[in-house]
Amino acid sequence: MDHSLQRIGTSLSKNPELGKLSRRGFMLATATLASCKAASTAPGAPVKTSPNTSYRTPSLGGPVPRNNVGNLSSNFSKDSGITFSRVLVSGNYIAMTFDDGPHPRNTPRLLDMLAMRNIKATFYVIGRSVDLHPGVLRRTVAEGHEIGNHSHTHRLLSKLSDSEVRKEMQLCQDAVGRATGIRPSTMRPPYGGLLQRQRKLIHAEFGYPTILWSVDPLDWKRPGPSVVASRILKGTTAGGIVLAHDLHSQTVDAMPATLDGLLKRGFKFVTVSQLIAMKAEPPGAQASNVPAS
Ligand code: NI
Repeated sequence: MDHSLQRIGTSLSKNPELGKLSRRGFMLATATLASCKAASTAPGAPVKTSPNTSYRTPSLGGPVPRNNVGNLSSNFSKDSGITFSRVLVSGNYIAMTFDDGPHPRNTPRLLDMLAMRNIKATFYVIGRSVDLHPGVLRRTVAEGHEIGNHSHTHRLLSKLSDSEVRKEMQLCQDAVGRATGIRPSTMRPPYGGLLQRQRKLIHAEFGYPTILWSVDPLDWKRPGPSVVASRILKGTTAGGIVLAHDLHSQTVDAMPATLDGLLKRGFKFVTVSQLIAMKAEPPGAQASNVPAS
């Protein structure tokens, strides 16, 4: 049964202008209605249709604000620092970070939202999940996002021996390399737990600075998308590093309002490496810099 014809027929029969239709047009419309009615099992029974799986609901929000930062270096020097929870920068730059992926559904949904707004984020991925969803990580890298090492199995590293810590870093680095051919540039410890001694070891052996955060919306407790968005909007200041988890669908649900809200407040999104690369000298530091003779 052709339902587009049926809709035409229905609209024609409700149309007060029907009287103006040609006799042939009216006959066609009523014939269509009659054939549809004859095909249904009981008069007045709802007509069954097959699902239209290719249809996408259009966005009602209209155009979204766009992030515009131009070309920025992501090369930071190894002596920039060993641990960062924020970076002193001159400008309204912030880094959005997403932990515990890649996730087969939530991460691609988030990537769509970021792409619409021209935002590059940093993803702290679990090596084990990279092995399960390498295609999601390939897309993440192909779309210009940065990858960080979040260990291979997401254990609390501060409880592990040095050799176990090395193994967690190495296996995640290898998984990212196998999937994408790239090497992570920074690391974030699961639960934020890493001893100072371990941070130095990882920095010396892998070149990763330890990246913590300045804004934590506690999104993993699933407080609802609007709470996640308002906590991030309240807590974010220039140079900030925002912690979120693309593992949770609620966090991804919160992102359109969060990202648009931050853009409207004038923040510019960069990756963690770009943020570290633009690290400014603290006030007074330049006076103490004696030029080498
Ligand atoms: Ni984590």
